[in-house]
Amino acid sequence: MAILKIAKMGNPILLKVAEPVADPTAPEVAKLVEDMKDTLIDINGAGIAAPQVYVSKRVFIYHVPENRIPEGVKMDPVPWTVLINPEIEPLSDERKMNWERCLSVPGLHGKVARHTHVRCAYSTLEGKRIETEVKGFQAMVLQHEYDHLDGILYPQRMTDLSLLTFDSELGLKTPAMPWAAEDFA
Ligand code: NI
Repeated sequence: MAILKIAKMGNPILLKVAEPVADPTAPEVAKLVEDMKDTLIDINGAGIAAPQVYVSKRVFIYHVPENRIPEGVKMDPVPWTVLINPEIEPLSDERKMNWERCLSVPGLHGKVARHTHVRCAYSTLEGKRIETEVKGFQAMVLQHEYDHLDGILYPQRMTDLSLLTFDSELGLKTPAMPWAAEDFA
């Protein structure tokens, strides 16, 4: 078990386009994913991408346990999911604004427009290629994590910076949540 250090906004590694993983089944990838999971559990987070732990590779993991689903959002819990070399494609032009937070941007949240329906393909740790379609809250989570692989943090996606807010100020109804998706309710 290893708790990894998390890079914060301003660190150049967060702005780099991450490299594809040559062999998703390699033991070092499994070890990285295990450590990312330990790190997330330690800080009670829901999603993290490899560049956030100083590894510029195209890997992210996330989960949405029952107690992390924002109030009023209709979705099933999502078990631990590991996405290696993911690709994301929007399936509709529709976007919705929702509040996002990021472990690399501690203490802040901001409102970002994301596609509401995306197709996602990725490799598993076993080397299997999976294709899936997701909507709503989960689609937003995928787009946020995927952006980390292209060196993009959510404030770079914001079109109205007046909506970038300290957690200590009013704004988030559920400050313990990694994301508040009131608009997906
Ligand atoms: Ni993030």
